[in-house]
Amino acid sequence: MPNVSRYIAWSISMMALATGMRAIQSQQLEVPQTPPSVDYRTPHIENEVSALLAQMTLQEKIGQLVQYSGGSATGPSPNHVKYADMAEHGELGSLLNVVGADETNRYQHLAVEKSRLHIPLLFGFDVIHGYRTSFPIPLALASSFSPELIQKVAQVSSDEAAQDGIRWVFSPMVDIARDARWGRTAESAGEDPYLGSALSRAWVQGIQHRRGDGTMTAACIKHFAAYGAVIAGRDYNAVDMSPHLLNEVYLPPYRAGIDAGALTVMSAFNSLNGIPMTANHSMLTDLLRKQWGFQGFVVSDWGAVHELLGHSVVLDSGTAAAHALMAGVDMDMEGNLYSTQLADLVRSGQIPISAIDEAARRVLRVKFEMGLFEHPYTPHSSTYEPTAEKRQLARDAAAQTLVLLKNNTLADKSVLPLNLNEGSVALIGPFADSQTEMLGSWGLPANPHDVVTLRTALAGRLGDRLHYAKGTDILTTSTSGFAEAEQAAKTSDIVILALGESGPDMTGESTSRAHLGIPGNQEQLLEAVVALGKPVVLVLFSGRPLAIPWAAQHVDAILEAWFPGMEAGHAIVDILSGDRSPVGHLPVSMPYAVGQEPLYYAQPPTGRPATKDLTGPASPGISRFNSRYIDEATVPLYPFGWGLTYTTFTYQAPKLTRKEITLAEVSKFMGAQKASAELLGVDVAITNTGSHTGTTVAQLYIRKEGTTVEQPLRQLYGFMRVSLQPSETRTVHFALTTHDLAFHNEQMQDVLEPSRYVIYAGGDSTTTNMTPFTLTR
Ligand code: NOJ
Repeated sequence: MPNVSRYIAWSISMMALATGMRAIQSQQLEVPQTPPSVDYRTPHIENEVSALLAQMTLQEKIGQLVQYSGGSATGPSPNHVKYADMAEHGELGSLLNVVGADETNRYQHLAVEKSRLHIPLLFGFDVIHGYRTSFPIPLALASSFSPELIQKVAQVSSDEAAQDGIRWVFSPMVDIARDARWGRTAESAGEDPYLGSALSRAWVQGIQHRRGDGTMTAACIKHFAAYGAVIAGRDYNAVDMSPHLLNEVYLPPYRAGIDAGALTVMSAFNSLNGIPMTANHSMLTDLLRKQWGFQGFVVSDWGAVHELLGHSVVLDSGTAAAHALMAGVDMDMEGNLYSTQLADLVRSGQIPISAIDEAARRVLRVKFEMGLFEHPYTPHSSTYEPTAEKRQLARDAAAQTLVLLKNNTLADKSVLPLNLNEGSVALIGPFADSQTEMLGSWGLPANPHDVVTLRTALAGRLGDRLHYAKGTDILTTSTSGFAEAEQAAKTSDIVILALGESGPDMTGESTSRAHLGIPGNQEQLLEAVVALGKPVVLVLFSGRPLAIPWAAQHVDAILEAWFPGMEAGHAIVDILSGDRSPVGHLPVSMPYAVGQEPLYYAQPPTGRPATKDLTGPASPGISRFNSRYIDEATVPLYPFGWGLTYTTFTYQAPKLTRKEITLAEVSKFMGAQKASAELLGVDVAITNTGSHTGTTVAQLYIRKEGTTVEQPLRQLYGFMRVSLQPSETRTVHFALTTHDLAFHNEQMQDVLEPSRYVIYAGGDSTTTNMTPFTLTR
């Protein structure tokens, strides 16, 4: 066939295909987009800002966009900028890493009393999981599946920090974390967008609560956007991602925080599909401001404006500053570029003064909104110190974050809870008595001496029936402590091993790991102790899901403790002793091996699913041509949502308020109801089938099938903590909206199509307890 006719034939077939596609798509019903968040600007504040801006020189306006670090606490090196002079001349907007009433008031005095326009400084700090009262790390708090708890923790932390001069906290970190190699998983709420969004709202509401004197602390949604998806889990690396994944998985938690009223956003270090976030106009301006309606200000991450040079999208500092500002970065954190470059750029006409005005307006708006002008100073007080009441909250919070992964039955009795009233206990491991380790990745403001270790708490209960031996260090090859540990185990009735990765050194920023096992020779110690044949409980400390296949097979009971904060010892003993029952559930999937990463439950479907989860090369009954590994399982070791307790639960099949609905009915429903109205109700009856009172986290997942864009095998759309007495049954209700049943089509519109749904309800993400639902034409 000559080329031309071949082309015509091809065009005709493409037209037919396009018509067919349109016919299919005409069966789509578009769900209205979520409108921009509520406009909190008030005429009063806007007038104040305008009046101030009208009096400001170029240098003073730029000053509002400049932030320096007054210490090296959270960054590479202190610089030698004269902040005091800058504050006095109105050329500084914010400081980070300056804390305490004395220090902050000293700088504030210069800005408020000495500078021409008396504009107060905003003091920022990384208050990530508590200030002086140290709470469990965010990943641990996410395991509680309790927005209420997180809101309380956030409020106490925000108040303590404010009482010590800090009115802006760089929290919450709401990056979705699906790759356990990434050390910042510790700071996140884990892998799931639904859970992540609920917790993002809770953090913002807690941090930004309005105090009696009218002040509030500003939260900072970070790191915008998609930082959790850095290639190969390596921190600061690039992110390359489809629009679907971005919109459906990575963006919702940021959006939830913005909708909850977060006053500031931090742009991420990474590039996104080739554009560094620090210079990403379509994300920082078109999406964040125009589509979502964000009215606060964006701060760069530390030195990130300068790092545009490293990203190779600019060749000089001036262009770096211009790109960042024009993209929508209002404040330069410790970059030294806005302060040195912007004025010249304006004078030479390379950036319009209107861009500086707008950025300064946003910073000033936030300062007014949070009551900083009326209350710039911090009264001297010691109320930020942990009180008995706050310690109680820290203990309660920590107890709610511990996840019981495994609990064998030995001689008709489960290993946990332990009877601490009789018998002896060996406590072994580098985490058994380390105060600093309990504080995790951002223990900075807390005092390690306030920490109660597991050894201290157990000694309080057992006296000389406790046999302690450190056994080994976190990272060593020396086995010199093994003999003592084995001796302790031999002379005890039961052994508790406290093992894991280092909180301060191996989790948090710049702590990516290429191996996910328990580091050093700790596993060797574990194996040596297990070989002695005593019942063994592993208490695992980590800021990410570790790969512990050996332990999962050979240890009798495993409690994932994450990093529980200052009340670590008490909280762990509360659970081990049965004084309290575990309620935590995994917010991340635990792998068998690092090679499974990124690992998450909401996998996309494949035409060749692994029918059986078997490892090894193809053999009779196991096809080679499936989506699986030849040398490892495809499933996780412990799935998302997993968590045992001291009783058991059964879930009945979900009962739906209807089995089927037509697109026409949905269309009518959308016309008559609010977007948040219940379209489909799901009732789930849950029974406590064991002999203890206990709490389950009821989880609702949806699978969407027959859609023009393939959907995850299941996705969380609801969770609820339910406490039940033995034999008690309760029916809980989940309300699904049109939005919950919709998905993004090829054009990225939120739509409903004739499709089939599977509604799952159960105690973890592998539940097969389900009821189908159909959406017809
Ligand atoms: C860099 C980190 O990425 C960010 O999370 C933190 O808030 C800033 N440093 C300030 O310390």
